[in-house]
Amino acid sequence: MCIFAPMKNDFNLQQYNSFGFNTVAKYFAEINDIQQLETLVSTDVFKQEKHLVLSGGNNVLFQDDVFDGLIIFINTKGIEILREDGNEVVVRAQAGEDWPDFVKFTVSKGWQGLENLAHIPGKVGAAPVQNIGAYGIELKDSFLQCEAIEISTGKKRVFTKNECRFGYRESVFKNELKGQFIITSVDFLLKKNAPLHLDYGNIKAYLEQNGIVNPTLQQLHNAICAIRDAKLPDVKQIGSAGSFFKNPVIEKAHFEALQKEFPNIPHYDEPNGKVKVPAGWLIEQTGPSTSSGTSWKGWRNEHVGVYDKQALVLVHYGGGNGHDIVELARKIQDSVEAKFGIRISPEVNFV
Ligand code: EPU
Repeated sequence: MCIFAPMKNDFNLQQYNSFGFNTVAKYFAEINDIQQLETLVSTDVFKQEKHLVLSGGNNVLFQDDVFDGLIIFINTKGIEILREDGNEVVVRAQAGEDWPDFVKFTVSKGWQGLENLAHIPGKVGAAPVQNIGAYGIELKDSFLQCEAIEISTGKKRVFTKNECRFGYRESVFKNELKGQFIITSVDFLLKKNAPLHLDYGNIKAYLEQNGIVNPTLQQLHNAICAIRDAKLPDVKQIGSAGSFFKNPVIEKAHFEALQKEFPNIPHYDEPNGKVKVPAGWLIEQTGPSTSSGTSWKGWRNEHVGVYDKQALVLVHYGGGNGHDIVELARKIQDSVEAKFGIRISPEVNFV
């Protein structure tokens, strides 16, 4: 029998999921180096129990009070420069590195590529899984390759960018290979000198308001952090998983019909002729009647609600559980569908 020493039983995950739910895991193993992971996959608990790899826990919704299986918490650290020449740097970060700290580090070195992804809570290893994106940039734009361990064999495998099959908040790790690999490190290709991406609506407006004409990399990073802080809850204060829903992509004909009825509907044209509509707007336009209007935005009950500054974010004020969020999410989906004929789908992973 193979035993993995640092395994814990009946472990409360409150500090390990950004909603802050008190879900208790039957088994919990913290991984601080890759050898521990290699040992873990050969244990009986690993082989017999269902398991879930948890990185920052910022994009998961534990629906129940008990997780009847093994949580594998990846906490490996290390940042390494693999290549630096001319205008390019290739840097490797271990999966357990904190994402916002890693972005801050690359910006402090003057390396460009990740600055618009500043301040997204989470860890490096989770970033490729849903191809995190913000302010006109996606992870895939600076991604070179990642290393992962195949759970069934314990063998290492390198995934190139093509093999990751990135899409909008999608990758092979969420789809065809779901649950089969654990990402252990990610390599990024960054630039020392490249144009900054300032085109996303509120970046320019923010810089103008603050009298910044030609922002430096550091100024752009700080601006993104400030914009996010103004719109998104700090998960240390209010439980949430960032955007709860994806922005839906609909057929052009459907969009044109909606636009006739709702001339102010915001939208972004997609390369495939379809149209992306912000789910936050759809949610804001629907909902129960309250003293402050008819909208989900800002709605709350004792335990959960819809964030008042960004309707795409569902929040947990404390004392609730996953069921409360699931119930609220369903009601929101139903009312958006009834009004716009669009079924919005969650970005968050339900466990
Ligand atoms: N809007 C509303 N009401 C709201 C929220 C948004 O009307 O309550 C409308 C506005 O018209 C606004 C538009 O939606 O102009 C877009 O809003 P925003 O710029 O805030 O972006 P988003 O589409 O709501 C996406 C990402 C965020 C990312 C921001 C900025 C998704 C699902 N979400 O949100 O990602 O930070 O863009 O780039 O694509 C996350 O994934 O956790 C996340 C926060």
